[in-house]
Amino acid sequence: FYRERALFRYGAHLRRDPLCRLHLGSGSRNPYPLYDEVRRCGPLIRSVVGAWTSATYAVCEQVLRDRRFGVDARPADQRAASPMLSFLELDPPDHTRLRRFVMPTFSPKAVAGFDPQISTVVGELLEAVPADGAFDLVGGYAAPMPIAVITRLLGIPDADSEEFQRYGQVFGSALGGLQSLRHARELGEAQSRLQRIFEDLIRRRRAAPGDDVISRLVTAPGEQIEAGDMVPLCTLLLIAGFETTVNLIGNTVHALLQRPELWRRVAEDPTLVDAAVEETLRFDSPVQRTARVAQADVELGGRLVTRGQMVVTLIGGAGRDPEVVDRPDVFDLDRTGRDHLAFSAGAHYCVGRPLAKLEATIAVRELVSRFPDLRIDGRPERRPGTLIRGLAHLPVRTSMAA
Ligand code: HEM
Repeated sequence: FYRERALFRYGAHLRRDPLCRLHLGSGSRNPYPLYDEVRRCGPLIRSVVGAWTSATYAVCEQVLRDRRFGVDARPADQRAASPMLSFLELDPPDHTRLRRFVMPTFSPKAVAGFDPQISTVVGELLEAVPADGAFDLVGGYAAPMPIAVITRLLGIPDADSEEFQRYGQVFGSALGGLQSLRHARELGEAQSRLQRIFEDLIRRRRAAPGDDVISRLVTAPGEQIEAGDMVPLCTLLLIAGFETTVNLIGNTVHALLQRPELWRRVAEDPTLVDAAVEETLRFDSPVQRTARVAQADVELGGRLVTRGQMVVTLIGGAGRDPEVVDRPDVFDLDRTGRDHLAFSAGAHYCVGRPLAKLEATIAVRELVSRFPDLRIDGRPERRPGTLIRGLAHLPVRTSMAA
């Protein structure tokens, strides 16, 4: 009896905890009321699972920018032992060295040159819309697009490209956590196969460089990147820009189609596409949270976070913080200020932001100009998980298909 009562009390305790409810309850359907609840409890709260959590813009931004917080939770003496980590998982100085190396390739100026390749991929996908005009906006458009773009940009040969896309999807689906043992096995297989594809490609591009991102990286002037860092770097470029961009496109189109007057407005004035994409990043961000580990004792939001403790920054909550945005729960194309942390902040600020924004803008602009009458035609289905937010399926219909 006592054990059952203790379990019941513990269960009730978990059910009251907003972070537990995010994972156990309706978090993947609609996490925003839970973020509001976290914010109402204070700028920084301690979850029963041990982590500190914040949904306010100010505290999340401070944590992401403050050098006293890092990403690597391993003890200092074990840090050098895992060479296969990507720089997303590393702290300075390794992080700084690798990040500096890749930045020029993804600068806004360099990325603007990718426009024709992105437009070609988008054009091909739009041509493939079936004659009856009904298709899945995610499976038939938003999902194949970023993977096809990054495959071309990395210079993956056509022969490997389908296989590569499949592995990219396996990685993407694992971002929110593994779903089964089979899923874990698939991920392991994808990892070793991708490693072989990249090793082979890197060797070939070193011998005979082309006009692709890998060639640019291996022939970059100045300090050369070590061979062991190159595979995790290429894998990061593949994964980081896949599910995130898919869901930015999906969430933008969904937000606009849910209010058909907005879709019509954007169709009449395609210069509004930029605002629609930026508002989606604030309102319904594809990456909902990240975390940092305190490398020293830090005073934060009126509490003391001690060295080694973790702080979860609810990025999706920061974009809806009424302290920084007016009427945060309204999707509004006419906002002037749109503070959000959708691409993080500080040392790990997303390297791929210019590419992601260019891809999403071209994808939405071409879709709305080709199909100004597009409408939702069935029940949208959410992808599982609470880290990446988006739709698995969005059935749509147009009467303008060929
Ligand atoms: C890092 C979001 C697209 C490459 C990040 C982080 C976020 C993010 C939140 C930082 C995580 C943290 O602070 O812990 C997004 C979103 C995207 C997107 C919302 C699309 C809508 C891309 C693309 C690429 C890319 C297209 C590249 C091809 C990276 C890389 C990092 C990163 C390399 C690691 C940066 C570092 O650790 O210094 N991204 N990303 N991302 N992103 Fe993106």
